[in-house]
Amino acid sequence: MTDVETASTATDTSARTLGFGVDVGGSGIKGGIVDLQTGQLVGERFKVLTPQPATPDSVAGGVAEVVDHFGWAGPVGITLPGVVTDGTMRTAANIDKSWIGTEVYNLFGNALGGRAVSVLNDADAAGMAEDRFGGGAGVDGVIMLLTLGTGIGTALLINGTLVPNTELGHLVIDGKEAEHRASSKVKEDKGWSYEKWAGKLSDVLEVYEALLWPTLFIVGGGISRKSDKWIPYLTNTTPVVPATLLNTAGIVGAAMAVDAGLRT
Ligand code: BGC
Repeated sequence: MTDVETASTATDTSARTLGFGVDVGGSGIKGGIVDLQTGQLVGERFKVLTPQPATPDSVAGGVAEVVDHFGWAGPVGITLPGVVTDGTMRTAANIDKSWIGTEVYNLFGNALGGRAVSVLNDADAAGMAEDRFGGGAGVDGVIMLLTLGTGIGTALLINGTLVPNTELGHLVIDGKEAEHRASSKVKEDKGWSYEKWAGKLSDVLEVYEALLWPTLFIVGGGISRKSDKWIPYLTNTTPVVPATLLNTAGIVGAAMAVDAGLRT
Protein backbone atom coordinates (compact mmCIF):
# COMPACT_ATOMS: atom_id res chain seq x y z
CA MET A 1 0.00 0.00 0.00
CA THR A 2 1.39 3.43 -0.83
CA ASP A 3 1.49 6.33 1.61
CA VAL A 4 -1.25 8.06 -0.37
CA GLU A 5 -3.57 5.06 -0.03
CA THR A 6 -2.75 4.69 3.66
CA ALA A 7 -3.63 8.31 4.24
CA SER A 8 -6.86 8.31 2.31
CA THR A 9 -7.98 5.13 4.05
CA ALA A 10 -7.29 6.79 7.38
CA THR A 11 -9.25 9.86 6.34
CA ASP A 12 -12.21 7.81 5.12
CA THR A 13 -12.49 5.43 8.01
CA SER A 14 -11.94 7.61 11.06
CA ALA A 15 -12.58 11.03 12.48
CA ARG A 16 -8.86 11.68 12.84
CA THR A 17 -7.68 15.21 12.20
CA LEU A 18 -4.72 15.00 9.91
CA GLY A 19 -1.95 17.49 9.30
CA PHE A 20 1.27 17.56 7.35
CA GLY A 21 4.78 18.49 8.40
CA VAL A 22 8.15 18.75 6.66
CA ASP A 23 11.43 18.84 8.59
CA VAL A 24 14.33 20.40 6.69
CA GLY A 25 17.67 19.13 7.94
CA GLY A 26 21.26 19.27 6.76
CA SER A 27 21.14 15.85 5.09
CA GLY A 28 17.46 15.14 4.46
CA ILE A 29 14.09 16.80 3.88
CA LYS A 30 11.58 14.54 5.62
CA GLY A 31 7.82 14.76 5.68
CA GLY A 32 4.68 12.89 6.51
CA ILE A 33 1.01 12.92 7.38
CA VAL A 34 0.39 13.43 11.09
CA ASP A 35 -2.51 12.39 13.28
CA LEU A 36 -2.89 15.60 15.28
CA GLN A 37 -4.72 13.89 18.15
CA THR A 38 -2.00 11.35 18.87
CA GLY A 39 1.15 12.89 17.42
CA GLN A 40 1.75 9.71 15.40
CA LEU A 41 2.58 9.56 11.72
CA VAL A 42 -0.07 8.04 9.49
CA GLY A 43 1.94 5.76 7.21
CA GLU A 44 5.64 6.09 6.61
CA ARG A 45 7.63 9.28 6.44
CA PHE A 46 9.23 10.12 3.09
CA LYS A 47 12.66 11.64 2.67
CA VAL A 48 14.60 13.27 -0.14
CA LEU A 49 18.25 14.23 0.18
CA THR A 50 18.83 17.88 0.97
CA PRO A 51 20.19 19.41 -2.25
CA GLN A 52 23.71 20.80 -2.08
CA PRO A 53 24.18 23.70 -1.93
CA ALA A 54 21.02 23.91 0.18
CA THR A 55 19.84 27.21 -1.23
CA PRO A 56 16.28 28.45 -0.61
CA ASP A 57 15.02 27.59 -4.12
CA SER A 58 16.52 24.11 -4.17
CA VAL A 59 15.23 23.29 -0.68
CA ALA A 60 11.75 24.61 -1.57
CA GLY A 61 11.81 22.24 -4.56
CA GLY A 62 12.66 19.35 -2.23
CA VAL A 63 9.82 20.29 0.13
CA ALA A 64 7.38 20.34 -2.81
CA GLU A 65 8.61 16.90 -3.87
CA VAL A 66 7.93 15.48 -0.40
CA VAL A 67 4.43 17.01 -0.28
CA ASP A 68 3.63 15.78 -3.82
CA HIS A 69 4.76 12.27 -2.93
CA PHE A 70 1.74 12.02 -0.61
CA GLY A 71 -0.65 13.88 -2.91
CA TRP A 72 -1.28 16.14 0.10
CA ALA A 73 -3.33 19.21 -0.82
CA GLY A 74 -3.83 20.81 2.62
CA PRO A 75 -1.76 23.17 4.78
CA VAL A 76 1.90 22.35 5.38
CA GLY A 77 4.16 23.13 8.34
CA ILE A 78 7.87 23.44 7.55
CA THR A 79 10.89 23.57 9.86
CA LEU A 80 14.16 25.33 9.14
CA PRO A 81 17.44 25.25 11.10
CA GLY A 82 17.49 28.95 11.93
CA VAL A 83 15.59 31.88 13.37
CA VAL A 84 12.40 32.92 11.58
CA THR A 85 10.79 36.21 12.59
CA ASP A 86 8.26 38.33 10.68
CA GLY A 87 8.28 35.69 7.96
CA THR A 88 12.00 36.13 7.32
CA MET A 89 14.88 33.76 8.02
CA ARG A 90 17.42 35.65 10.13
CA THR A 91 20.24 33.18 10.81
CA ALA A 92 21.87 30.24 9.06
CA ALA A 93 24.46 28.68 11.36
CA ASN A 94 24.42 25.22 9.74
CA ILE A 95 22.77 25.81 6.35
CA ASP A 96 23.60 27.84 3.22
CA LYS A 97 24.11 31.48 4.17
CA SER A 98 21.86 32.63 1.31
CA TRP A 99 18.91 31.83 3.62
CA ILE A 100 19.59 34.94 5.66
CA GLY A 101 16.99 37.54 4.66
CA THR A 102 14.87 35.06 2.69
CA GLU A 103 11.12 35.68 2.93
CA VAL A 104 10.17 32.13 3.74
CA TYR A 105 6.38 32.46 3.46
CA ASN A 106 6.71 33.76 -0.10
CA LEU A 107 9.25 31.08 -0.92
CA PHE A 108 7.22 28.10 0.31
CA GLY A 109 3.84 29.63 -0.54
CA ASN A 110 4.96 29.85 -4.19
CA ALA A 111 6.59 26.41 -4.22
CA LEU A 112 3.42 24.83 -2.77
CA GLY A 113 0.79 26.49 -4.96
CA GLY A 114 -0.25 29.26 -2.58
CA ARG A 115 -1.64 27.01 0.21
CA ALA A 116 -1.42 27.90 3.92
CA VAL A 117 2.03 27.26 5.38
CA SER A 118 3.73 27.76 8.75
CA VAL A 119 7.50 28.03 8.85
CA LEU A 120 9.33 27.69 12.15
CA ASN A 121 12.63 26.78 13.73
CA ASP A 122 13.40 23.04 13.74
CA ALA A 123 14.05 22.76 17.48
CA ASP A 124 10.89 24.75 18.23
CA ALA A 125 8.85 22.27 16.19
CA ALA A 126 10.47 19.31 17.95
CA GLY A 127 9.84 21.02 21.29
CA MET A 128 6.14 21.50 20.56
CA ALA A 129 5.79 17.82 19.65
CA GLU A 130 7.83 16.46 22.56
CA ASP A 131 6.10 18.76 25.04
CA ARG A 132 2.66 17.51 24.04
CA PHE A 133 3.20 13.91 22.94
CA GLY A 134 6.70 12.89 24.01
CA GLY A 135 9.06 13.30 26.96
CA GLY A 136 7.11 16.28 28.33
CA ALA A 137 3.59 14.85 28.06
CA GLY A 138 1.70 15.50 31.27
CA VAL A 139 4.45 17.69 32.75
CA ASP A 140 3.54 21.29 33.63
CA GLY A 141 5.95 24.17 33.98
CA VAL A 142 8.94 25.36 31.99
CA ILE A 143 10.22 22.70 29.63
CA MET A 144 13.41 23.06 27.64
CA LEU A 145 14.19 20.76 24.73
CA LEU A 146 17.68 20.46 23.29
CA THR A 147 18.38 18.87 19.92
CA LEU A 148 21.93 17.55 19.97
CA GLY A 149 23.25 17.20 16.44
CA THR A 150 25.53 19.26 14.20
CA GLY A 151 24.57 22.17 16.42
CA ILE A 152 22.45 22.51 19.53
CA GLY A 153 18.89 23.64 18.91
CA THR A 154 16.73 24.74 21.83
CA ALA A 155 13.02 25.14 22.46
CA LEU A 156 11.44 26.69 25.53
CA LEU A 157 7.83 26.12 26.49
CA ILE A 158 5.76 27.19 29.44
CA ASN A 159 2.68 25.06 30.09
CA GLY A 160 2.58 24.14 26.41
CA THR A 161 3.14 27.64 25.00
CA LEU A 162 6.27 28.11 22.93
CA VAL A 163 8.66 31.04 23.32
CA PRO A 164 9.88 30.95 19.71
CA ASN A 165 13.45 31.24 18.46
CA THR A 166 15.44 30.74 21.63
CA GLU A 167 18.97 30.20 20.29
CA LEU A 168 20.60 29.02 23.47
CA GLY A 169 22.90 26.67 21.57
CA HIS A 170 24.80 29.85 20.75
CA LEU A 171 25.05 31.00 24.36
CA VAL A 172 28.71 31.81 24.98
CA ILE A 173 30.01 29.97 28.04
CA ASP A 174 33.59 30.68 29.11
CA GLY A 175 34.39 32.12 25.70
CA LYS A 176 32.88 29.32 23.60
CA GLU A 177 29.38 28.72 22.22
CA ALA A 178 27.41 25.91 23.87
CA GLU A 179 27.04 24.11 20.51
CA HIS A 180 30.81 24.19 20.01
CA ARG A 181 31.24 22.63 23.45
CA ALA A 182 28.65 19.89 23.57
CA SER A 183 26.84 19.11 20.30
CA SER A 184 27.01 15.46 19.24
CA LYS A 185 29.20 16.54 16.32
CA VAL A 186 31.81 17.81 18.78
CA LYS A 187 31.74 14.43 20.54
CA GLU A 188 32.29 12.70 17.20
CA ASP A 189 34.98 15.11 15.98
CA LYS A 190 36.95 14.81 19.22
CA GLY A 191 36.40 11.08 19.66
CA TRP A 192 35.15 11.60 23.23
CA SER A 193 33.59 8.85 25.33
CA TYR A 194 29.96 9.24 26.41
CA GLU A 195 31.19 9.98 29.92
CA LYS A 196 33.53 12.75 28.82
CA TRP A 197 30.93 14.30 26.55
CA ALA A 198 28.26 14.10 29.28
CA GLY A 199 30.59 16.21 31.45
CA LYS A 200 30.68 18.91 28.76
CA LEU A 201 26.91 18.75 28.33
CA SER A 202 26.43 19.01 32.09
CA ASP A 203 28.42 22.27 32.08
CA VAL A 204 26.01 23.64 29.47
CA LEU A 205 22.87 22.38 31.25
CA GLU A 206 24.08 23.90 34.52
CA VAL A 207 24.28 27.32 32.88
CA TYR A 208 20.79 26.91 31.38
CA GLU A 209 19.34 25.89 34.72
CA ALA A 210 21.02 28.78 36.54
CA LEU A 211 19.45 31.22 34.05
CA LEU A 212 16.05 29.66 33.28
CA TRP A 213 15.23 27.23 36.13
CA PRO A 214 13.34 24.78 33.92
CA THR A 215 11.17 22.00 35.37
CA LEU A 216 12.51 19.45 32.89
CA PHE A 217 15.07 19.07 30.11
CA ILE A 218 14.20 16.87 27.13
CA VAL A 219 17.21 15.79 25.07
CA GLY A 220 16.69 14.94 21.41
CA GLY A 221 18.74 14.36 18.27
CA GLY A 222 20.11 11.03 17.04
CA ILE A 223 22.30 10.60 20.12
CA SER A 224 19.20 10.51 22.36
CA ARG A 225 18.54 6.98 21.06
CA LYS A 226 21.48 5.87 23.19
CA SER A 227 20.58 8.09 26.14
CA ASP A 228 20.97 5.22 28.62
CA LYS A 229 24.70 5.38 27.83
CA TRP A 230 25.11 9.01 28.87
CA ILE A 231 22.16 10.47 30.82
CA PRO A 232 23.42 8.60 33.94
CA TYR A 233 26.69 10.58 33.72
CA LEU A 234 25.01 14.01 33.73
CA THR A 235 25.71 15.97 36.91
CA ASN A 236 23.27 18.88 36.60
CA THR A 237 20.31 19.19 38.96
CA THR A 238 17.17 19.41 36.78
CA PRO A 239 15.73 16.07 35.61
CA VAL A 240 16.71 15.10 32.04
CA VAL A 241 14.60 12.73 29.93
CA PRO A 242 15.18 11.54 26.37
CA ALA A 243 12.94 12.63 23.52
CA THR A 244 10.58 9.82 22.57
CA LEU A 245 9.37 10.82 19.10
CA LEU A 246 12.93 10.64 17.76
CA ASN A 247 13.11 11.33 14.06
CA THR A 248 9.44 12.32 13.73
CA ALA A 249 9.34 15.17 16.29
CA GLY A 250 10.11 17.91 13.74
CA ILE A 251 7.50 16.63 11.31
CA VAL A 252 4.84 16.34 14.04
CA GLY A 253 5.62 19.77 15.50
CA ALA A 254 5.53 21.38 12.05
CA ALA A 255 2.09 19.88 11.44
CA MET A 256 0.93 21.11 14.88
CA ALA A 257 2.24 24.60 14.11
CA VAL A 258 0.33 25.01 10.86
CA ASP A 259 -2.79 23.50 12.43
CA ALA A 260 -2.54 26.13 15.21
CA GLY A 261 -1.99 28.90 12.64
CA LEU A 262 1.41 29.66 14.20
CA ARG A 263 3.35 32.33 12.37
CA THR A 264 6.78 33.37 13.56
C1 BGC B 1 20.72 26.93 14.82
C2 BGC B 1 19.32 26.69 15.38
C3 BGC B 1 18.90 25.28 15.09
C4 BGC B 1 19.93 24.30 15.57
C5 BGC B 1 19.58 22.87 15.21
C6 BGC B 1 21.65 25.90 15.40
O1 BGC B 1 22.92 26.11 14.92
O2 BGC B 1 21.16 28.22 15.15
O3 BGC B 1 18.41 27.61 14.83
O4 BGC B 1 17.66 25.05 15.74
O5 BGC B 1 21.21 24.59 15.05
O6 BGC B 1 19.44 22.69 13.83
